[in-house]
Amino acid sequence: MKLKGSLAGFGRPLLFAAVLLGGVASCADLPERIRAHTYPPDFRYIEPSRVRSAMWELAQQTRDLDRILHDSRADSPERQRAVVAVLRTMNDAASSIDPSGRKTNHALIDENLDLFRHDLALALRLAEAQPPNYFLAGFIAGTCLSCHSGGS
Ligand code: HEC
Repeated sequence: MKLKGSLAGFGRPLLFAAVLLGGVASCADLPERIRAHTYPPDFRYIEPSRVRSAMWELAQQTRDLDRILHDSRADSPERQRAVVAVLRTMNDAASSIDPSGRKTNHALIDENLDLFRHDLALALRLAEAQPPNYFLAGFIAGTCLSCHSGGS
């Protein structure tokens, strides 16, 4: 009796901690999971926050790319590495929005994301080439306009 009591006393905080930890881990993607059940399986709901954080990453990287490309110093392996790193990060950000190619809740993304990713991949391949070619990299900022109108 005494043993059982002390075990329970010891077990409860542990159990409590486990529930807490488990709760934190599973709550993070709860909205996504609920939506996974409320939308039909061929439809992919994209969290607006996920689009936004990918977009801020894209915006940051576009600025970096612009700065690197306008750096007037002669072409160097460092410059190529920097351009390639930026384009890879942009590729990852674009892929994080919707790697599936299925229909989503964003019409703009359905229409333009594939092309945008295609342009990014091509710019990356050219920048990685020996010798590097930054022609398309210089146009990446312009490809944002397929979803974002010029004025804003
Ligand atoms: C495939 C379509 C598409 C392309 C291409 C695209 N965007 Fe976006 N962008 C969106 C959508 C949709 C939103 C609105 C997200 C929301 O608020 O739900 C957005 C929002 C943004 C925002 C605002 C984020 C916020 O917090 O509201 C920024 C900044 C941004 N995009 C930058 C860029 C840059 C820079 C590029 C090009 C490198 C780019 N976008 C290319 C679709 C696109």
